[in-house]
Amino acid sequence: MCGIVAYIGPREAYPILIKGLQRLEYRGYDSAGIALLNGELNLFKTKGKVVELVDYLKDKDLKGNIGIAHTRWATHGEPNQTNAHPHFSQSGKLAIIHNGIIENYGALKKELTKRGYTFTSDTDTEVLVNLIEDICQNEKVSLEEAVRMSLNQVIGAYAIVILSQENPDMLIAARKGSPLVIGIGKDDYFIASDATPIIEYTKNVVYLEDEEVAIIKRGEELQIRNIKNRKKTPYIQELEWNLNELEKGGYDHFMLKEIYEQPRSIKDSMRGRLNARKGIVSLGGVSEYEEKLLKARRIIMIACGTSWHASLVGEYLFEDIARIPVEVEYASEFRYRNPIIDENDIIIAISQSGETADTLAAIKMAKSKGATILGICNVVGSSIPRLTDAGSYTHAGPEIGVASTKAFTAQVTILTLMALRLAQLKGTLPKSRFMQLLHELEHLPAKVEQVLDDKGITEQIAKEFKNTTNFLYLGRGYNFPVALEGALKLKEISYIHAEGYPAAEMKHGPIALIDENMPVVFIAPSKGIYEKVVSNIQEVKARNGKIIAIVTKGDTTVKKMADYIIEIPETEEMLVPILATIPLQKLAYYIAIMRGCNVDQPRNLAKSVTVE
Ligand code: M6R
Repeated sequence: MCGIVAYIGPREAYPILIKGLQRLEYRGYDSAGIALLNGELNLFKTKGKVVELVDYLKDKDLKGNIGIAHTRWATHGEPNQTNAHPHFSQSGKLAIIHNGIIENYGALKKELTKRGYTFTSDTDTEVLVNLIEDICQNEKVSLEEAVRMSLNQVIGAYAIVILSQENPDMLIAARKGSPLVIGIGKDDYFIASDATPIIEYTKNVVYLEDEEVAIIKRGEELQIRNIKNRKKTPYIQELEWNLNELEKGGYDHFMLKEIYEQPRSIKDSMRGRLNARKGIVSLGGVSEYEEKLLKARRIIMIACGTSWHASLVGEYLFEDIARIPVEVEYASEFRYRNPIIDENDIIIAISQSGETADTLAAIKMAKSKGATILGICNVVGSSIPRLTDAGSYTHAGPEIGVASTKAFTAQVTILTLMALRLAQLKGTLPKSRFMQLLHELEHLPAKVEQVLDDKGITEQIAKEFKNTTNFLYLGRGYNFPVALEGALKLKEISYIHAEGYPAAEMKHGPIALIDENMPVVFIAPSKGIYEKVVSNIQEVKARNGKIIAIVTKGDTTVKKMADYIIEIPETEEMLVPILATIPLQKLAYYIAIMRGCNVDQPRNLAKSVTVE
């Protein structure tokens, strides 16, 4: 949540900062601001998106080769110009940008108010910058020291960058719970919430760890200390992503580009991990933990949102083919409900961003109880992979659209590989069946291509239903999570109310909603409990509901009952979720576009949820 960019070096800072904000806008987009130092500190901020800030800055003096910038997703205080970042300290000599929440800001504010500070915004951030200023003035310490001392008083999460009028050749950055990356250029430094604004300038980066403070001085080596003042050696890593992965590449939206990237992203998730001809499945990142997986009493998968839906598919997969009990938990519930976990449990944490606050907190809690933690993440170097014992990257490439698409299919691909490997180790599948599944998995990207080429049917359905106010998504078995995911996609980008249900649950309540105005999407492939789903379709048909069905190519039974059908190629039951989710992503996309919604930046949402 919230995007941070900062620059120090010989170039003009403004173009770097504004481009960085545009790249980070997917993290938050209700207000934006920039502070540049050029002798004096100049602050500019606006409500709304970065484009509005750019417009506001047209006739302003934007000189300076050091600066900080921010795009906000509001937590404390409504999204308006006053609450936008950066925030000045009372003297106007310090400016700060912040991502995260200072939980004890109320108590700190009270204390500072007693000491004569007044506040212009409703934010916790303004409290922090004044705390730093207060310590600087009263304790007569350097800015670095004041930042460190103030962070020892803070409870909560933060990623901050501080710019000081009196220290024109220095930026100070710190993190706890919210990500921060420092790019190291030839003679300059770039700081950001993630690597996307940095990648076009340098591939060498340092990911700050929790409670680390970076002192970034012009022309000097990067210094890092923790808040206890212990010196740390910066660990420089090389970024893998390319610049063109961060552009729309001719598509109207990142979401559409990412939907169409799936044949490639699924292939990349399997690259080097699957050799169907030789019968090899190997996930290098977790191979050291195979023995533990074999002995595990159960697996608990923790995640949020779309990643939670991928975990549900994982539950079906692991139990079905590897015969190990699996529980799937919302990280936000798991972390607070005193679950029974011990060293015999294996936790698999699943996250696209690797920064989701609830998932991180749930991992820490499970770790403290002795469980082994494996991760499935997309963003290399993010917090979750650094906190887990081992894991596998999905290698889906950067996902910029707020609605997760290719990350979901990549997560399910990795879970499939893991379940197959475990089945192989446990001997729970006959060799011939195992080989059959590997072959089918290898051919899946080509089938995804076929699903994407739907001859305009999803657009046609979108046109028909774009003005509806409710949608129901139903599926059974492996396709129950697909129904949930289809409904989530639609609601988050088109703002149409949509519910996902196991199809058989319909008769326990949701059936009351069915009338001639209710579109019901059935995921009804010919595998699994097909006849049962057909009965559920009949129940909807009998009540005049509008039926949209995802069926296996060549299906004739459902075709007779449905108002619209979307065909997917024949595949193994356990691989259907990957194919069947794609038309649902497209349907949500086209409906949202036809309703004039901003699909890449839906209202109230942000890509990475780094707050509770
Ligand atoms: O980065 P994560 O996978 O941990 O994110 C989890 C959810 O916030 C995310 O999947 C969210 O639900 C998406 N907007 C869904 O499209």
